[in-house]
Amino acid sequence: MQKTIKSVRGMHDYLPEELQLWNYIENIIKEILNSYCYLEIRLPIVEKTEIFQRAIGNITDIIEKEMYSFQDRKGNNITLRPEGTVGCVRAIIQNNLAHKNNKFWYFGPMFRYERPQKGRYRQFYQFGAEVFGLDYSEIDLEIMILTSRIWKVLGIDKDIKLEINSIGSQNDRIKYKKELIFFLKQYESLLDDDSKRRLYTNPLRILDSKNEDIKKILKKAPLLYNYLDKKSKNYFKTLCTMLNDCGIQYYHNKFLIRGLDYYNSTVFEWRSNQLGAQDAICAGGRYNFFLDNKGIKKISGIGFAIGMERLILLAQNSNIFFPDQRGIDIYIIFIGDSNKRYAIALSEEIHDVYPKLKVFTDFSNCTLAKKITHAVNFPSHIAILIGDDEVKRGLFLVKDLKYNKQYYIFKNEILIKINSFF
Ligand code: HAM
Repeated sequence: MQKTIKSVRGMHDYLPEELQLWNYIENIIKEILNSYCYLEIRLPIVEKTEIFQRAIGNITDIIEKEMYSFQDRKGNNITLRPEGTVGCVRAIIQNNLAHKNNKFWYFGPMFRYERPQKGRYRQFYQFGAEVFGLDYSEIDLEIMILTSRIWKVLGIDKDIKLEINSIGSQNDRIKYKKELIFFLKQYESLLDDDSKRRLYTNPLRILDSKNEDIKKILKKAPLLYNYLDKKSKNYFKTLCTMLNDCGIQYYHNKFLIRGLDYYNSTVFEWRSNQLGAQDAICAGGRYNFFLDNKGIKKISGIGFAIGMERLILLAQNSNIFFPDQRGIDIYIIFIGDSNKRYAIALSEEIHDVYPKLKVFTDFSNCTLAKKITHAVNFPSHIAILIGDDEVKRGLFLVKDLKYNKQYYIFKNEILIKINSFF
């Protein structure tokens, strides 16, 4: 049987048709982030494996089973980035940026070896943002306001809900872990293999379990929120009060833990009930990083990442209106090879004078009728025909395809007259 050439499982092409919507949404997100004074940062797609291990945590799904890691030709261990926060923190420290600017955004592909399904891919795009060094709840609030503005501008705010929680400080979690292990040990024989393994290494991960039997057990488990100290609780309460004041609706999900180990204090997810199992469209939280071996280079921050494929799915489901960028403004047709140079020259002159117009020169050897059909089907606004007769008379035939009219225009007037069609 002949093998067809296919992309790698879980990684797909983004075709021009769907990229209309992508570009529209990307531009809105960029404009909003820029308007809140976030600066763009572009980061490498590969980083040293060890920085992900250290920051994300060894006993997490990402590190245990989802990384695309390999050795380069010198035997260095490197990894295709599974997310953007770690690389962004690395870049801020390496380039000494934290004291100059605090807010950054990035956009690009991430890679996780997950089981592909709707809304979950092995290569996917994230729009991420990070704020460094500003450790107050007003910044947490601003991030939630900013993301909520994105949904409003896109017209999908009715279909997306905010869930928040506080996972407190490291100390809070140490106390809680003991209690959680004590509780779960009673049910150890009922736990699945993953949870049994995590019971003594990273029991908090069990709270994330998708296994329905474990979810039932967890209903009776102690809640991390009840183990937070006064400072953590006050921080979270202030945030809730400010969210109420700003009219941002949220649900306090006491089971929200997040799948990466770098978080502290506030965590949040924007979810939609329109997307099936992969319902988190945007997620983030506060974190503290220790990036060098001695734990000296500490940086604190808060950030979020929007999963673009899921956002696009929701925008498509909600039938959001967006301007169609397809179509051609001027479709140039020459008849006879000897007239090709006039077509090329005209196209270049139009590009010089009207750089925003979309000009297509038809170099195919189809019949004139077929070329006109192509121009109509694209659709094109006007077609300019250049044949022997026109060249002899110093004219171009301009067909207004939108209004089904045609005009002969003198060659030396065409650039001025084009303006009247747009
Ligand atoms: P995350 O929850 O791992 O967080 O991913 C953020 C978002 O990326 C998810 O809510 C989801 O929309 C999307 N996403 C994740 N995995 C996939 C996948 N396999 N296929 C499609 N979409 C996916 C982070 O990555 C953190 N770095 C967020 C953050 C920034 N926290 C602080 N700053």
